Amino acid sequence: MSLSPQRRGRSEGPETDDVKLTPSRRGKKSLAKSVSPVRVEEEENIGLRSKKLDFTSSPKKGKSPRSYDAPTSPGKSPVRRTLSLEDTAADIKVETPKKSPGRKESTKAVVSPSPATAISGLALHSAAHKIKCSPRVEKAYQIVRTCTGTLGGNGTTGAIYGELTMGSMQRVINLMVEKCELNDQSRFIDVGSGLGKPNLHAAQDPQCRLSVGVELETIRWQLSMYNLKCLLPECTRGKEKNEKSSDITKDTPLLSGVNFMVGDIDEADYTDPFTHIYMYDLGFPPPLQQSIANKFNNSQYAQYLISYRPPRRVIDEYGYDVEFVDQITTSMHGSGENHMAYFYRRLSKAPKLTAGARSSLREVIFPARPGFTEKTTTILVDAAFEKCVKLAVGDIAPLEKYATLIVDTQLLNSERPKRDRKPARLFDA
Ligand SMILES: C[S@@+](CC[C@H](N)C(=O)[O-])C[C@H]1O[C@@H](n2cnc3c(N)ncnc32)[C@H](O)[C@@H]1O
Repeated sequence: MSLSPQRRGRSEGPETDDVKLTPSRRGKKSLAKSVSPVRVEEEENIGLRSKKLDFTSSPKKGKSPRSYDAPTSPGKSPVRRTLSLEDTAADIKVETPKKSPGRKESTKAVVSPSPATAISGLALHSAAHKIKCSPRVEKAYQIVRTCTGTLGGNGTTGAIYGELTMGSMQRVINLMVEKCELNDQSRFIDVGSGLGKPNLHAAQDPQCRLSVGVELETIRWQLSMYNLKCLLPECTRGKEKNEKSSDITKDTPLLSGVNFMVGDIDEADYTDPFTHIYMYDLGFPPPLQQSIANKFNNSQYAQYLISYRPPRRVIDEYGYDVEFVDQITTSMHGSGENHMAYFYRRLSKAPKLTAGARSSLREVIFPARPGFTEKTTTILVDAAFEKCVKLAVGDIAPLEKYATLIVDTQLLNSERPKRDRKPARLFDA
């Protein structure tokens, strides 16, 4: 499939729907000054550069044929924000969604904000709002930190990308559980999964039955496979019967059900088999959004959408057939920059399955997991996700073999210079 770069994503500059810097902060000592020019991706709004991670070199072999480089001229790139390390969330205002003129139901459906919504940017970082994560989640992030470092990124542009803190992701998950029916039977997808943290998180809490990430950039996908490879020896497919959350410690095995695929989300015709579609989509251009909206609206199973775009965009401009449910302020790892996550519920029912739709969908058996009250079921899966989903829901051994193959043949064998000091780690964090 040949698509214009604009369609594929990552081409749209950051729009200030939800983040505003106060003029006074703009004069502060900026990171742009304190680090040498670094290639920065448009959507990610982060000018931060880790001292320890190597984000400047791009592995030649890892370059995705479908990716395209964002503008890199330091002066011209719209993302060379003058956010300094000292910037605090208090300096960033998050707008609440404006009334949508086109679709009345979108505003009618607005429910009272959850307590989390009311938290100001500064409060988000305060000890009082430190959010509790399950030991499984903490253990998963710990392993990821050991494998690929603290900050996500390292794409073909050599930039750091935006990813949520563990606490912010937990708050997103909590709101999905509270208001979006996310549970252990949910099938979660992260569109643009980067190094895979949201997927690994959803698999541990609330133990989603399936958690798949699709990522356009080859190197990011390879790194997510490296994270998965590191995690799988600690995983089981099921849990102890009658396991209580108070029973879980750092010694409790992690849960599998996760897999990552490289590719353009546009290659799928539907979002099936996923019930919850999560996307950190600030950089997704409107044509890509409209295309994903089509897949979502015509899917058999999609129920909820989590986007970083406000209702006037998601509903009126992109055409997702959804109503607004809630919103929450999230904090970015590293920069402390804040973005608003918006939660939407699907309005339309699944369309009747036509012969045309059938031809894109495959029947995949989801075996019941030990310790869960679930049955082995057959689920319709878009052909683009079939291989990835089958591996995710099956036994751990074939998935581990696949992850090892990817890491050994593609990542560790790439031309990227290897470090001798700590061979078990790809990058120093
Ligand atoms: C800001 S990162 C988010 C990473 C991850 N979701 C997280 O929260 O840690 C957005 C990702 O979307 C990916 N992306 C952009 N367009 C895409 C597309 N058409 N299909 C799949 N991934 C895409 C980018 O390569 C980038 O890694």
